[in-house]
Amino acid sequence: MKVQIVYSSLSGRTKKVAEAIYAGVEAEEKALIDLKDGEPVLDGDIILFGYWVDKGGPNAQMKALLPKVEGKAVGVFCTLGYYADSEHARQSLLAGIGLLKEKNTVIGGYVCNGALSEAVIARFRQAGMSGPHSASPENEIRWKVMQGHPTAAECALAAERFRERVEIFRAFAAQGLTFKSVL
Ligand SMILES: Cc1cc2nc3c(=O)[nH]c(=O)nc-3n(C[C@H](O)[C@H](O)[C@H](O)COP(=O)(O)O)c2cc1C
Repeated sequence: MKVQIVYSSLSGRTKKVAEAIYAGVEAEEKALIDLKDGEPVLDGDIILFGYWVDKGGPNAQMKALLPKVEGKAVGVFCTLGYYADSEHARQSLLAGIGLLKEKNTVIGGYVCNGALSEAVIARFRQAGMSGPHSASPENEIRWKVMQGHPTAAECALAAERFRERVEIFRAFAAQGLTFKSVL
């Protein structure tokens, strides 16, 4: 069985999670694929897609790829700048899953905090904008405290989530059992 981990990452946060998942997953064959090198041939039995959240959903490159995926066992993970336990985070994950779930079996999902890069924070500060992205005292505190995400614990949990799901999916398949989408 082949597992592909396909990710898109602007400033390295999602890449870190993807690498942890890649290291943790057990399969005869596995591949770690960065979308910046172009869209890969999707020939994995299981494909795990990872993106950075852009305006509440998958970033553009991932958004273009996901609707093309068909007949696979898939997992989705993402990182975002806002709180990982917020409704915004949940919806950002579901936005990616929504592009896959009609034509594929969803074996799992995972969302965790990334962090805004220094470059993005600098842009927000410079722009002097108002609203949710302003360099308000509240946002400055959040950006500072959360700068270290994804943490080692978040990466370990992502790896555990998908290592187990792949194992369960494979054990089901070996016995001719159907894995029902979890999301
Ligand atoms: C253009 C842009 C749009 C973003 N939109 C959101 C958003 O809607 N919600 C959010 O929580 N974070 C948003 N972020 C923050 C990123 O999702 C977050 O920093 C992510 O961890 C970056 O991952 P990467 O390092 O893999 O690129 C945005 C960042 C950028 C640059």
